[in-house]
Amino acid sequence: MATESTDRRVDKLIHLLVKNATVVVPGPKIASEIGVTRFKVFGWIENLRSLGVEIRGVMGEGYQLVTIPDILVPSMVRAELGDHPIGRNIVHYFRTESTNAVALRLAADGAEHGTVVVAEEQTAGRGRMGRTWFSERGTGIYISIILRPPLAPAAAPVLTLMAGLAGQRAVSSVTGLAVDIRWPNDLLVNGKKVCGILTEMSAEVDRLHAVVLGIGINVNHSLMPTALENIATSLRMEAHRGISRVQVLVALLREIERYYQLLLKSGNKAITERWEAASTFAHGKRVRVTTAAGEALATTTGLDPSGALKIQYDDGRQDFLVAGEVVEVK
Ligand code: BTN
Repeated sequence: MATESTDRRVDKLIHLLVKNATVVVPGPKIASEIGVTRFKVFGWIENLRSLGVEIRGVMGEGYQLVTIPDILVPSMVRAELGDHPIGRNIVHYFRTESTNAVALRLAADGAEHGTVVVAEEQTAGRGRMGRTWFSERGTGIYISIILRPPLAPAAAPVLTLMAGLAGQRAVSSVTGLAVDIRWPNDLLVNGKKVCGILTEMSAEVDRLHAVVLGIGINVNHSLMPTALENIATSLRMEAHRGISRVQVLVALLREIERYYQLLLKSGNKAITERWEAASTFAHGKRVRVTTAAGEALATTTGLDPSGALKIQYDDGRQDFLVAGEVVEVK
């Protein structure tokens, strides 16, 4: 499938099959309900099968879903969300270069607050600090959420922390796993990374135009590439069972809505205090700090209300980290 957003009629096809999951739906009925030829329906069914959607074809009769597909098209996700701004508009791709790149373009074209860009696969997923994000097809969650907060650019770090908190809640409630947050917003399970967040924005000096929260979650990978296996894992590998991507995504969007409202209503401290309670990295953690200036060892001493991580270097200097990376040292 091309790097165009998913044809709404493919979503309709999935919806139709899900709605009639216990019966064989005749090909001509599908074709007329979604307004395409039977040949087109056949082609789309083949594409969906290649993504792991199990569809039984009955000669001369039609098609039947074998299992409910774990695919992140709007019809699978929207039904589970209430009528809240985040997730009201979902733009789905089977494949794209980077959902953050797409979301930044959509935001520049005026996309509404809460628009979510989701992809089954990314060919150039972006990570923090100029890294790439491993974006295997159909196994992870790769999304970007466009927010238009009535806040100054200085609020961006707290929006990032908020996304980490929401991710922690969502992942632990769906999987039952214990999830830690490493500053600023990596989610760790058993010390390895399962989720990363890349915040990008367009702003003027005193006003945020749009913030794009790009979130990648390793969900059903059965193994990680060799270069990552010591530092990253997936929810499936830790829970020892397959995890529904739809359920994780729905929980994530709901939690982001909840924490976003909390931030607007109660301010930064409501988020930073919850973050401090939720992360073992907030206080007394021995870490290796990497910034533009280089690497050094330090101990964490809490969060500043702006979202900066307070640290004390081994040479006694104290600092507020606003950018950079920390890794636990034992
Ligand atoms: C990190 O390095 O920890 C941040 C990774 C962020 C990855 C996500 S996947 C969806 C979105 N689109 C991207 O290109 N990157 C983010």
